[in-house]
Amino acid sequence: MDRAQHVPVLAGRVTALLSPALAAEGAVLVDATLGRAGHALALLQACPGMFLIGIDADVAAIEAAGELLAPYAARVTLVHARYDEIPAILAAVRRPPGPIKVMGLLFDLGVSSPQLDEPARGFAYAQDAPLDMRMDQTAGRTAADIVNGYPPAELARILREYGEERFARRIAEAVVRERARAPITSTQRLSTIVRDAIPAATRRTGGNPAKRTFQALRIEVNDELGTLRRALPAALDMLAVGGRVVVLAYHSLEDRIVKRELVRRTADQTPPGLPVPADAAAPQFRLLTRGAERPDSEEVTSNPRAASARLRAAERIRQAA
Ligand SMILES: C[S@@+](CC[C@H](N)C(=O)[O-])C[C@H]1O[C@@H](n2cnc3c(N)ncnc32)[C@H](O)[C@@H]1O
Repeated sequence: MDRAQHVPVLAGRVTALLSPALAAEGAVLVDATLGRAGHALALLQACPGMFLIGIDADVAAIEAAGELLAPYAARVTLVHARYDEIPAILAAVRRPPGPIKVMGLLFDLGVSSPQLDEPARGFAYAQDAPLDMRMDQTAGRTAADIVNGYPPAELARILREYGEERFARRIAEAVVRERARAPITSTQRLSTIVRDAIPAATRRTGGNPAKRTFQALRIEVNDELGTLRRALPAALDMLAVGGRVVVLAYHSLEDRIVKRELVRRTADQTPPGLPVPADAAAPQFRLLTRGAERPDSEEVTSNPRAASARLRAAERIRQAA
């Protein structure tokens, strides 16, 4: 089993935001992206009465977290699933006994360090490996399926939208040309195709030119944006009054989805023209963060993967009418 370290991002802030809601005996935290349980462990330690339901799509993450959390096993339920299954998971879980009261929700989106550092997963453009990129290696199509199977226009759209790649069309055309010679099955070959497809002058600036293509493919392979769009509203609906949600996003596309959903939930929906706010339209949540919070330079220096993090949090203040 891989034991690569994952340093939890903004761990102190996440714990400070969630622990007031998790102080009561039997309060439940749903960690939708358990990973190596860095945040979950800090919260189990800070909140002795809290129960954890930890979810991850990656079997390796669930196995590693099970070992790391063994001392807390009596308060922990781990589930190998995608986080858009939260309502069904909550209906099935039997610990703590009785009705589950979700008082904390955590989404720490994206890829974990162990996933990036394990070449066989195919997330890293710097090491040669099969083009996989699935968070859940037990199901679904791989990056190779997409690279070798998508029509050129669809490939270009993904690179443009999910990778914000300005040479999307050129890269897509090069991929289509190359795959006609032989299927593209390795990260190294794809990196080389991308590098050769972009203008020589831009190759010298802005880091590895394959970075944006790899991000775009990862988002498509795992349907990251679609899953978040479905999962976040469904998860927020499960939160009890007084419960808190924290979301860490790592690129602007996912942060935009989070921001929209939290702003929608915290805004008064009274139709314009009504003299007093309608009760049914009163906001169900209040924001706990002003805009998106970012890690400070000290954290980014010691953990460069925190650099793009944006944290947003909210508290449920009212039940749905
Ligand atoms: C950034 S890591 C979380 C790290 C964790 N907070 C920690 O402290 O160790 C993100 C995790 O989310 C998981 N993940 C990504 N998409 C998922 C999905 N749709 N459903 C469930 N887990 C997912 C990944 O497998 C990965 O382990």
